[in-house]
Amino acid sequence: MAIEIRNPSEDEFRSAMKATETAFGEEQKEEDFQRHRKMLPRDRFLAAYDGDRPVGTAASFPFRLTVPGGELAAGGVTWVGVLPSHRRRGILRQLMRQQLDDLRERGEPLAILWASEAAIYGRFGYGIAAPMTEMNADRSRFAFREDPGAVGTVRIVDSDEAKQLLPRVYDQVRRDIPGFVARSGAWWEQYRLADPEHWRRGAGPKFCAVIEIDDEPVAYAIYRIKNDWEDGFSQSQVRLLETLAVSPAAERELWRFVFGIDLIVRVRGRYDPASPLFLLVTDPRSLHLKVSDGLWLRFVDLEAALAGREYSSDDTVVIEVRDSCCPWNAGRWRVGREVGRTEEAAELELDSADLASAYLGAFDFRRLAGAQRVRELVPGALERATNLFRTPRPPFCSEDF
Ligand SMILES: CC(C)(COP(=O)(O)OP(=O)(O)OC[C@H]1O[C@@H](n2cnc3c(N)ncnc32)[C@H](O)[C@@H]1OP(=O)(O)O)[C@@H](O)C(=O)NCCC(=O)NCCS
Repeated sequence: MAIEIRNPSEDEFRSAMKATETAFGEEQKEEDFQRHRKMLPRDRFLAAYDGDRPVGTAASFPFRLTVPGGELAAGGVTWVGVLPSHRRRGILRQLMRQQLDDLRERGEPLAILWASEAAIYGRFGYGIAAPMTEMNADRSRFAFREDPGAVGTVRIVDSDEAKQLLPRVYDQVRRDIPGFVARSGAWWEQYRLADPEHWRRGAGPKFCAVIEIDDEPVAYAIYRIKNDWEDGFSQSQVRLLETLAVSPAAERELWRFVFGIDLIVRVRGRYDPASPLFLLVTDPRSLHLKVSDGLWLRFVDLEAALAGREYSSDDTVVIEVRDSCCPWNAGRWRVGREVGRTEEAAELELDSADLASAYLGAFDFRRLAGAQRVRELVPGALERATNLFRTPRPPFCSEDF
């Protein structure tokens, strides 16, 4: 079977996207096709052709990703799928190869993705870079431990006002949290605030609640309510699609609002690992937090990626990096405020996928060593690398793509 990987032409875009929908067992809606066509540059969309039939795809959004102390271009990998009739014959492997070469040519140092299954992408050099914590809280047990009292106001705003207010909060938060990506006005409109009926999956419309203190928007929740009744009692849930706050005070008001919604028994949503909520409540167990893999990251251009983040001291460490999939990254690197190739003796040795797990600050080198993911060649190097890569807070990705 000869498979050709190429960009679909304008006329072929629809059938290529239909192949991806089929790979996920979903139906392509015209409205969504138009939305994705607007948002996904066609030259970043790869399709695998068996003759003239599209049988697999992989695409990437042109993101700006917040990294410790800065931001870098990152391909946001998406629309990955191969038809069930063509699986396990190496088509994904071919798509990944071409996509990484393409991102390299574009000069984007990083690739990031959410995986449908956690076992797929390690083999292509992706490492867990921002684990995801989810909350499934029991609202009946919610209480603040100490409560200085409510401040500010809460308003439920329509989507026009949301488009004005929410980006102000988002852009402020994004600057300081590795794992965030910049959002355009079109992204807000087409994805984050869009609300087609078939996205609701049994729940109600999207609501946007904005917290304001001193007339400034300081936090928001985008959420749906999933109504359910049993024996005359509500069993309804709040599904939080995004909750962000610019400060701990703003965040307290955000949770006061969310956990104050009547008729709700469960509050579900993604949870920032640096959130104060766990320590704010009397019963942290009732938040039912659960951790899984989350955002994966791959170095496309290791040198640019390492030079593009900030380090916590003037120290340097020499790291021998293995990278069979992107051999241009492999070799010995001096890492610190000056990054470059070196002939000096290596102090640590690891795969680039494991270095990716340390890059945004999710895992330190001691923890990687505990899992046999890094080898210390010079005593003390683990400790020094851990200190060098230390970040003020763990990464968090609030984007879905
Ligand atoms: C996941 C998917 C894209 C894989 O495509 P594919 O063409 O069958 O993959 P390949 O044949 O190129 O496999 C490449 C390697 O990945 C492995 N692999 C593929 N799918 C895997 C999976 N779901 N779990 C674990 N390993 C997987 C293969 O075994 C192979 O390993 P090897 O190189 O060691 O032999 C395809 O099964 C699919 O479309 N699934 C449904 C949609 C989906 O989950 N998409 C991913 C979105 S993030």
